[in-house]
Amino acid sequence: MAQEALVIGASGMLTEVSRWLARQGYQVTVLGRDPIKLSRIRDGSIHPESIHLLSQDYQQTDSLRQSMAELVEKRGPMDVVVAWIHSTAPHALSVIVEELSRPEKSWQLLHVCGSGVWKNYPTKLTSEACIYRRVILGFTCAGEHSRWLTNDEIAAGVIDALQTTEKQIIVGQVEPWEKRPAYSSI
Ligand SMILES: NC(=O)c1ccc[n+]([C@@H]2O[C@H](COP(=O)([O-])OP(=O)(O)OC[C@H]3O[C@@H](n4cnc5c(N)ncnc54)[C@H](OP(=O)(O)O)[C@@H]3O)[C@@H](O)[C@H]2O)c1
Repeated sequence: MAQEALVIGASGMLTEVSRWLARQGYQVTVLGRDPIKLSRIRDGSIHPESIHLLSQDYQQTDSLRQSMAELVEKRGPMDVVVAWIHSTAPHALSVIVEELSRPEKSWQLLHVCGSGVWKNYPTKLTSEACIYRRVILGFTCAGEHSRWLTNDEIAAGVIDALQTTEKQIIVGQVEPWEKRPAYSSI
């Protein structure tokens, strides 16, 4: 039976991650609000039949909970979840973890985080079924010039992370922190 993956916030910088998972043989559910943006992930994939669209606002906690329960009912337990969730939805991750852990089958969560969290301890999760790992998106620096990462660099870093078992992966760099680009809210 094919393995199941869920990519949350899939239609931006995680587009290529979703398509890569489909190439690895996963059935991939891609979550975002805009169904047109989601359908572009499928349209550009060489395995469109393996990409399933889930239009859902993760800020809507009740309907998010319901759609996670329906997802498990429809596709079975998830094996891998890649999640990029804005800070505007502080409850989304715990709701997702709670619902996806109901089948009591071990699954892996790759939590993609902005650079600002690198000094903090990782999110504490209550689920024993969920193997939590995080990817921190840093910046890149050459001489005096620094910049945030591009979508391609981010996708490549997340794909590398999916192929390791490390608890924390930094894409680009976070040190020296004072060299980060001027706009620091991501
Ligand atoms: N450290 C770094 O260098 C760094 C870190 C972060 C971002 N960036 C850059 O900044 C750019 C913009 O960042 P971004 O955060 O807009 O990321 P993005 O990955 O381009 O887009 C956000 C994704 O999340 C979805 N989304 C947003 N709000 C949602 C909600 N309430 N419910 C469900 N899905 C939701 C969006 O789809 P819908 O809008 O359809 O919902 C989209 O799929 C990125 O493309 C990247 O290049 C760089």
